[in-house]
Amino acid sequence: MKDVGQIRSQFPALKRKAMNGKPVIYFDGPGASQMPNRVNRAYNDHVFYDKANAGGYFETSVNTTEEVARARLALSMFMNCDETEIVLGANATTSIFQFSRALSRNWTSDDEVVVTKLDHFANVSPWVEAAKDKNCKVTKVGFGVNTGKYNLEEFKKAITDKTRIVAVNYACNAIGTINPVKEIVEIAHKHGALVFVDAVHYAPHRLIDVRELNCDFLVTSVYKHFGPHISVVFAKKEHLENFEPYKVEPASNDIPNRWETGTPDFSAISAIPSTIKYIASLSENKGVTRKNLEIAYQNITEYENELSKYFLNKLFELKKVHVLGIKDTDEVENRTPTFGLIVEGKTSHQTAEYLAKHGIFAWSGHFYALDVVREYDLEKDGILRIGMLHYNTKREIKEFISVLKLFTS
Ligand SMILES: Cc1ncc(COP(=O)(O)O)c(C=O)c1O
Repeated sequence: MKDVGQIRSQFPALKRKAMNGKPVIYFDGPGASQMPNRVNRAYNDHVFYDKANAGGYFETSVNTTEEVARARLALSMFMNCDETEIVLGANATTSIFQFSRALSRNWTSDDEVVVTKLDHFANVSPWVEAAKDKNCKVTKVGFGVNTGKYNLEEFKKAITDKTRIVAVNYACNAIGTINPVKEIVEIAHKHGALVFVDAVHYAPHRLIDVRELNCDFLVTSVYKHFGPHISVVFAKKEHLENFEPYKVEPASNDIPNRWETGTPDFSAISAIPSTIKYIASLSENKGVTRKNLEIAYQNITEYENELSKYFLNKLFELKKVHVLGIKDTDEVENRTPTFGLIVEGKTSHQTAEYLAKHGIFAWSGHFYALDVVREYDLEKDGILRIGMLHYNTKREIKEFISVLKLFTS
């Protein structure tokens, strides 16, 4: 990957100084990523010059309509699908609620729903609520607390011919595990069940390929991958055509538009192509192509795996700090550089507050991955989450370790 200094120089937010005069360390990546200059510019350009609703005959409206088309095109390359399979929404949670309403319209009490315990509740509650409305059985698939991973046998037991939907997280936003979603899709499809994948935490770390996964639905939230606040759902064309969304009567009946209710944030939409272009630029090649996105993500993965190994090796210097889930440096391929930590004798909130005073931005608590904290019996004290992105550095890890050393000594 390019020199990380050159990458960081594209992000104005990374120049922020903490109260101690040192640069802020952003370890809050799974909560939100920062945006590079080109994305900020695209976002502002829409607000400054083109603010209008889409679909009209006048110039700013025509420009807005074209911006939406460009965003869809960029996202179809990003996810490897057709432009008509891209549904834009307010945020991932709202999108999943919307899809769960439409998909469950004709469920009966004989149907079953499978949700998973490494998931953010954005991909749990909407399905549980839909199941409640139709008196459907809900089965939750658990994970190994020592490994932080799923066992596929558990999916084979949980999914039956009555299962209508399997909701699964591609990567866990609390402890970083990357889940075997392709295999889970295969098991689900053998039983005729559909699969809704939450790729919100996965997207900044690995390339999405919905064709390869063969999933039915997949959601990301662009603010987690260097863009503005907007969600994107991939849905197979046949599902967009066959399921009936809740919509207002005068709105378009075409796909994907009939799934997009109300007026979206056009400034966010207009910044999507620049977001994808930024990611492709990490390939060090010119142009936004699927090939360049592949290379870019290989570079991201290689760099982030180095960060993860360095982090895990350094962490062993701290006797009172423990990593949840995958901790073997040989296994960093199977995780993102998102680490769920326990600090002996301290709540996650006490530690996060101490870190904040030292200019280290990190989250504490449950991050809506409620079953994860429950499984580790940490609902009260929470988990300290150190979440890195490709713009973080080994120097920052070193600084974090020395601050934590003071706190725990
Ligand atoms: C894995 C995961 N899924 C879903 C969400 C919810 O996304 P949104 O904030 O767009 O509703 C988050 C947000 O943190 C997340 O990390």
